[in-house]
Amino acid sequence: MTPSSCAPEADDELDWGGVETFDLVLQGQRLRISRRCPHRAGRLDYGVVNADKRTVTCPLHFSVFSLDTGEQLSGSPCGRIQISRLDDPIAIFKP
Ligand code: FES
Repeated sequence: MTPSSCAPEADDELDWGGVETFDLVLQGQRLRISRRCPHRAGRLDYGVVNADKRTVTCPLHFSVFSLDTGEQLSGSPCGRIQISRLDDPIAIFKP
């Protein structure tokens, strides 16, 4: 993991259907991600990003989500997170 490339770049609060988001640059790819975990609203912008596995771990109860699809990979079942690739606006994954 290279923290400088994984740190949230901006605190954009764009209207994304009412979903709070943050942006992340991961391996040169800009992603917009729902800020709140679907489990109990943990702050994913404070989560741990694993750049090699392309995942984010929620800091509250440690669910792990794919940064490619938003799919929940582990943790209490709660659904997926919303992700869009800003360089590929067709690739939007909604819960
Ligand atoms: S709030 Fe994210 S795993 Fe519980």
